[in-house]
Amino acid sequence: MYWSVNCKSLKSLGGSEKLRIAEIIAGVAMNEKTIDLRSDTLTKPTASMRQAMALAEVGDDCFMEDPTVQQLQERAATLFRREASLFVPSGTMANLICLLVHTQPGQEVICDKLSHVYNFEMGSMSSIAGVLPRILESEEGILDWQQIAEAIRPRRYYRSHTGLIVLENTHMMSGGLVYPTEAALHVCRMARDAGIPIHLDGARIFNAATYLAQDVAAMTKDFDSVQFCLSKGLGAPAGSMIVGTAGFISQCREMRKLLGGGMRQIGILAAAGIVALDVGPGRLVMDHANAKLLANEIVGSQAIEVNPGRVQTNIVVFRVPVQTSQDFLGAIRRRNILALPIDEKHVRMVTHFGVSSEDIEDAAHRIRQTVMGN
Ligand SMILES: Cc1ncc(COP(=O)(O)O)c(C=O)c1O
Repeated sequence: MYWSVNCKSLKSLGGSEKLRIAEIIAGVAMNEKTIDLRSDTLTKPTASMRQAMALAEVGDDCFMEDPTVQQLQERAATLFRREASLFVPSGTMANLICLLVHTQPGQEVICDKLSHVYNFEMGSMSSIAGVLPRILESEEGILDWQQIAEAIRPRRYYRSHTGLIVLENTHMMSGGLVYPTEAALHVCRMARDAGIPIHLDGARIFNAATYLAQDVAAMTKDFDSVQFCLSKGLGAPAGSMIVGTAGFISQCREMRKLLGGGMRQIGILAAAGIVALDVGPGRLVMDHANAKLLANEIVGSQAIEVNPGRVQTNIVVFRVPVQTSQDFLGAIRRRNILALPIDEKHVRMVTHFGVSSEDIEDAAHRIRQTVMGN
């Protein structure tokens, strides 16, 4: 009965729905495990996180009475050697809060053309903060001071003023490349001399720190504000942290409330954040090794252009010269490998603690088989 009803309704399905069903049947038929390389946000809370969440002491964080949130915030401030820090729901909100505190409507924000804050945050810098993005073309996400200096508006009463500079480390769209610390700190020092605040979108700053074997506090010391995500490679189910001076963080708390991000008994999430900070940074080295392994395993086919030497952290971006990225992604999805497009010809794969080195070898094997005909 079930099958006859469903076979009948199959006839009424559209082409893409039929294709999806065929893909599912192919994957199931081959009994292949799904290997999900779409993002490092896909990790699920570990047993120790869930236990910490269950046992967390909580209070109303809008009254600043949640002891676990306080503990997490103290932890983050100490790690970054800053006066204070704030727990916020997401990296997107963290960036927006910092933008709102640093700038005035009508000002310009200098950022990279491929930055997350410009491309993937719903245009909130304009629609909510009322500022104009001043986008610069960079060499793989690295903006140097010379090009920033040229983009700073002269101080004329009839001109938009430059209100903020934003850098991103690691740079997601360039395949998780790391900003050399000295270059970033040089931009910070010059920005300070020019009287312009500078914010770091450090969503994956611990990946950068792992790659450089440096300390996050030293790497970020001259930024006026830094946001980093607990919910990516560090493995927490939600949340980002902003670090800065006590005065700045107090303004951020007001902005968080304005945006509807004031939360209550949120210690249950902060507890997962504490575990993420305790355990997460130490294991990123495995994600990096897996990303390198993946690049090394898929290099060599005419259907994939990848440079394993440019894989620094947990993101592998490669070109698919003989097909569109959507066609490539459709083909590997039929073998239960999931990834995301960067654009028409580029694909992104991200490693995280949900995938082991065996999974990576398996994924690379299926990808090689998939592209062999190309
Ligand atoms: C570089 C960068 N910044 C900010 C964000 C936003 O973080 P969230 O997804 O928590 O809003 C992301 C998310 O992928 C990111 O990659």
